Amino acid sequence: MKFLITGGAGFIGSNYLHYVVDRYPDDQFICLDLLTYAGNYHNIEDLEEKENFRFVKGDITDHDFIDQLFSKENFDVVINFAAESHVDHSIKNPGIFLTTNIIGTQVLMDASLKYQVSRYHQISTDEVYGDLPLNRPDLLFTEDTPIRTSSPYSSSKASADLLALAYYRTYGLPVTISRCSNNYGPYQFPEKLIPVVISKALKNEKIPVYGVGENVRDWIHVIDHNIGVDLIVRNGKVGEVYNLGGHSEKNNLELVKIILKQLEKSEDLIEFVEDRKGHDLRYAIDSSKVEKELGWQRTYTFDDGIKETINWYLDHKDWIENIESLEYRDAYNKKL
Ligand SMILES: NC(=O)c1ccc[n+]([C@@H]2O[C@H](COP(=O)([O-])OP(=O)(O)OC[C@H]3O[C@@H](n4cnc5c(N)ncnc54)[C@H](O)[C@@H]3O)[C@@H](O)[C@H]2O)c1
Repeated sequence: MKFLITGGAGFIGSNYLHYVVDRYPDDQFICLDLLTYAGNYHNIEDLEEKENFRFVKGDITDHDFIDQLFSKENFDVVINFAAESHVDHSIKNPGIFLTTNIIGTQVLMDASLKYQVSRYHQISTDEVYGDLPLNRPDLLFTEDTPIRTSSPYSSSKASADLLALAYYRTYGLPVTISRCSNNYGPYQFPEKLIPVVISKALKNEKIPVYGVGENVRDWIHVIDHNIGVDLIVRNGKVGEVYNLGGHSEKNNLELVKIILKQLEKSEDLIEFVEDRKGHDLRYAIDSSKVEKELGWQRTYTFDDGIKETINWYLDHKDWIENIESLEYRDAYNKKL
């Protein structure tokens, strides 16, 4: 089968490609990425030597370009990881989130319909369900929890999900959707909480924590997310939404303290800063549907996963330095 993987130079997409390219030598994987500030060609550069991998630079919102690509390649499966993904940026500049996350999804689905792909998979987020109260640990998001978004980011992702379900119902596009909780692991752009904490702690810089650090996230290792995506794409039922969660709830302060402890750094580095506008209190996901229907299981405990992740960043300090020096932006041009 031939797969189009959009956003494959970002955090989760590049981990997905590292997971599948070796695992399925008979499948072809075309990575399409615009290499925005969050896309890093270095993340997938080593895959270029594999026969079943190719990189294409391009924009999912560019209708003509996407049409030509689909017409030339005859994809069987499309997995859309491409997105603007940072909540804080969406609060400052919502427009690009609507364009990339909603129009980009529409352009990909129009081409998927026209060229009759056998599966279109939309990578979504638990943030479409809004948040849960801190004092009700019994409550979890299920696939039937109503959409109730808080940020322009989550609203754009929810819009894309609704559009995907409409393309299934109206046009019969074979769609599946996965909604996942917060990911951690290698190759995460150093603007998100875990790589920010590691990078600042290593430089003995102050670590900003929103409010009093009480917001709870359900952390999942990126590999477990991608194992779930792979199962859903190959065995999931069309028209269905599947939740994927880490079953590892931590509040932000707890998480920062865990990282500082492993790095043997002082908690005095923590600095509480003004809370994010509309900050979601708690996310917690019920993954029992994908567990029961597709046999998905997490392979990482949080303790092992976070240790391994911190060690990865320690072993790849040059990867973070390269991003901070902005040299990563030239990586693709150097190959040409
Ligand atoms: N990071 C998380 O914890 C998390 C959790 C749940 C769901 N998700 C979802 O997973 C997906 C991937 O997230 P991520 O954390 O890897 O994001 P990321 O920001 O690291 O990567 C996004 C990638 O998309 C590319 N891209 C952006 N606009 C594009 C365009 N117009 N055309 C082509 N490529 C474009 C970027 O260059 C980048 O490589 C997103 O859809 C996100 O909403 C993320």
